Amino acid sequence: MTALAHPTTPVTDPRISSAPSAAVGGDASSIDALGVAVIGLSKSFQKNAVTVEVLRAVDLSVERGSSVAIMGASGAGKSTLLHVLGGLERPTAGRVEIGGRDVYGLSELARAELRNRQVGFVFQFHHLLPEFSALENVMMPALIARESEKAARERAAGLLEEVGVGHRLTHRPGEMSGGEQQRVSLARALVMSPAVVLADEPTGNLDVSTGERVFDLLLDMNGRRGTTLVVVTHNPELAARMGRCFRMLDGRLVASGPDRGPSA
Ligand SMILES: Nc1ncnc2c1ncn2[C@@H]1O[C@H](COP(=O)(O)OP(=O)(O)OP(=O)(O)O)[C@@H](O)[C@H]1O
Ligand SMILES: [Mg+2]
Repeated sequence: MTALAHPTTPVTDPRISSAPSAAVGGDASSIDALGVAVIGLSKSFQKNAVTVEVLRAVDLSVERGSSVAIMGASGAGKSTLLHVLGGLERPTAGRVEIGGRDVYGLSELARAELRNRQVGFVFQFHHLLPEFSALENVMMPALIARESEKAARERAAGLLEEVGVGHRLTHRPGEMSGGEQQRVSLARALVMSPAVVLADEPTGNLDVSTGERVFDLLLDMNGRRGTTLVVVTHNPELAARMGRCFRMLDGRLVASGPDRGPSA
């Protein structure tokens, strides 16, 4: 795996949350759970001279070690919220804190380091690197964090086994089904044992029992390690397994039971 010994992907590529180490001080490699908070968060996009207001003064506090589900109609702004929460997209206004640190007050490098070490992001559309195998994709964040190839490989293979794609280690994304790619993306998000996992419809392409296994894995991390979870899902039964449930509606978050509310 020569190509992986010296990863060439730019450090700003959000798919791998990469960053040179030692950018943000001594607590960067801590495995303690971290809480997430957003205060007065707004996000608009400019498109053809029209302003699209997606998030409108959202407040949310996710205590360390707790779990939150976010539901809501397609286009409501769930992915946008998760991207802003994960340090991937700067808000128009407001503040995001992870472990009490102002995420967008950090330098680019420090924010990339925070993402690499502390935040596991499962993208809605996977965003795997097409030229690398499943195993290499999952190893990537660990290699970029300067871990040994052996340790990275063992952990990546173990996680791929756990999410049920241990038989596809050498397959590239284009040689896997959508659900398999989704699980590779989940394994990649977990490989650094992050304190916070932000997962955007991590079971969207999965059958019922595989989806339940994915939630079992996330909740097991939450229970055993105190990993803080924020999970976007359209599945009310899975949402009900999280500690709290919110719905995105008109750019705001509304506390909600998973089985009721104005939209699903
Ligand atoms: N870069 C962008 N430029 C302009 N508009 C955008 C951009 N990204 C998102 N939007 C708009 O913001 C709104 C929210 O998008 P988002 O992807 O957050 O929705 P979502 O709730 O995740 O939907 P889904 O359930 O379909 O994944 C959509 O109307 C979308 O068109
Ligand atoms: Mg989305």
